Amino acid sequence: MKGVIIDRSIYCDYRFKYEEKHDKSGVGMSEVREDKHYVHMIGGDGPNSYARNSAYQKELLVSANDLLQQLIPKHLDTDSTVDTFRIADLGCSVGGNAFFAVENMIGAVERRYKSDGRHVPEFHVFFNDLIGNDFNTLFKQLPVARSYFAAAAPGSFHGRLFPRESIHLAHCSTALHWLSRSPERSNKGRIHYAGAGKEVREAYAAQYKRDMDCFLHARGEELVAGGLMVLILMGYRDGYVLGSDSSIGESFDILGSCLYDMANMGKIGEEEVDYFNLPFYYPCGAEVEAVIEANGLFSVERVTEMGAPMKGEADPATLVGHMRAVIGVLVEERFGSGVVEELFQLHLNKTIERAREKPFIYQSCHREIIHIVLLKRNNPS
Ligand SMILES: C[S@@+](CC[C@H](N)C(=O)[O-])C[C@H]1O[C@@H](n2cnc3c(N)ncnc32)[C@H](O)[C@@H]1O
Repeated sequence: MKGVIIDRSIYCDYRFKYEEKHDKSGVGMSEVREDKHYVHMIGGDGPNSYARNSAYQKELLVSANDLLQQLIPKHLDTDSTVDTFRIADLGCSVGGNAFFAVENMIGAVERRYKSDGRHVPEFHVFFNDLIGNDFNTLFKQLPVARSYFAAAAPGSFHGRLFPRESIHLAHCSTALHWLSRSPERSNKGRIHYAGAGKEVREAYAAQYKRDMDCFLHARGEELVAGGLMVLILMGYRDGYVLGSDSSIGESFDILGSCLYDMANMGKIGEEEVDYFNLPFYYPCGAEVEAVIEANGLFSVERVTEMGAPMKGEADPATLVGHMRAVIGVLVEERFGSGVVEELFQLHLNKTIERAREKPFIYQSCHREIIHIVLLKRNNPS
């Protein structure tokens, strides 16, 4: 008898499958079908929501803004035939960060149009996230005074979201470290590749490459020739192997040990924890550049490293609140909603203890850096 295959990957991808069909005249039409549906940030605007636990991501946007205000006007090609300038914010989540990012992009584009003496087009902004995202809360909070038309573009950014050559500027901040699925490997004692063995690390790296390539292919179809794409990515310096000597590695270690504590108390299955791998990958600059080069659809206008912006000591409650807003739903999907409260309480208690032992790790997002990448869509040959 054949054994039952249990798929233990965490899917973060509602990957659209395109099936080429042909009508009677032989004209190709793409049919879009959704595949998997599992994750999203904690929605609403309550105390555990992403909207109230995303100060770190906001800091990244603030810190990157000065540079982007120089780069976007410098590299943008203005076009007097464009009446509607289309912007996509990919992985927008819920809360004010998306609006802040979009307003900054619009400001930079407007400046370039004005300095070229051209008529400023109207702006159409598409807010994209996975279909489980709380778009209702997002749109309820849309600024009343805004200079753009807003629309949702639900679905995975690892696949196509927009018609061909329809987007002029795409923006994606602190979202591309999400893999479309986590490697399905036993990773005993850990819940991530930070500090893990070579095989697990390589499985994550390979998934990242595949996902980035899908992302670039999809955007390559959707961006107009000369269109720009801004990526703000969490990562590390070249040569650094992510381990427990980083803030992220430390946090995942603690969360993993809490899950094993709960398994020891008989509240969840130990084998389930062995196979629970968080779907996040934090690349170094060389990996990002290599995947863009291999893909070949974009030219790199600029890749810059920036120190992680949080200064001073991070307070354990803030750190754990942030982890819960992002990871809470993954835990709930895998282990059931009954464990979430207790797990993150344990996580908070241990984080408070560890912050006394290793205070340096709780300062300035130890070892983490931010890659700011500006890409331009090549002219299709
Ligand atoms: C940490 S939040 C960042 C949100 C926002 N960009 C910001 O700066 O605050 C990452 C977001 O990416 C979304 N995301 C993850 N994988 C995605 C995918 N494949 N397609 C679209 N969105 C995705 C998550 O649902 C989440 O809302």
